Amino acid sequence: MAYLVISCSLNPESRSRNLAKDAQNRLETLNEKMVWLDLAERDLPMCDGDAVYKLPLVGEMGKLVKEADGILMAAPIYNYDLNAVAKNFIELTGRAWQDKVVGFLCAAGGEGSFMSPMGMANSLMLDFRCIVIPRFVYASSKDFSDNGDVTPEIKERIDGLVDVLVKVSKALS
Ligand SMILES: Cc1cc2nc3c(=O)[nH]c(=O)nc-3n(C[C@H](O)[C@H](O)[C@H](O)COP(=O)(O)O)c2cc1C
Repeated sequence: MAYLVISCSLNPESRSRNLAKDAQNRLETLNEKMVWLDLAERDLPMCDGDAVYKLPLVGEMGKLVKEADGILMAAPIYNYDLNAVAKNFIELTGRAWQDKVVGFLCAAGGEGSFMSPMGMANSLMLDFRCIVIPRFVYASSKDFSDNGDVTPEIKERIDGLVDVLVKVSKALS
């Protein structure tokens, strides 16, 4: 089994990246094989639905998705949705998502946007038959300390999400 953890924020001070790192730590504690992908370190093009699919970098991203059994997407909430970087990544990698088990970890400013991952979840379920774990992590600014650490409650939710992702991915493999 192999898992892919994708950090989708381009902000150097990203909080969702910290959520992704905690998820990475949990996978390591469980001795699960994991690949880390930070989109801030990749200069991905915007999806034009055409020539971009021939680029080696885009092919490489598709391969990472395809080779994963379970995928965790950590992303910022922008305008009541996952950020454009996350959506662009899915547009670029498309069919590679077929039948994947997917979990979301989101960092938001406030508490009111907690249903924001649902648009992306619906799209992945309907487009690519993804199994979306119905337990996502949603952390608002009050859940982070000044140095970016999360509260024990959020940490527990991250562990819970990772544990279910692993359980479901193994059951379906
Ligand atoms: C363009 C933009 C739009 C945002 N929209 C929302 C929003 O709709 N709801 C919300 O709760 N926070 C919103 N925020 C706050 C971010 O979700 C918050 O800063 C979060 O920590 C960003 O994730 P990151 O730290 O991983 O980059 C927005 C921030 C920006 C820059």
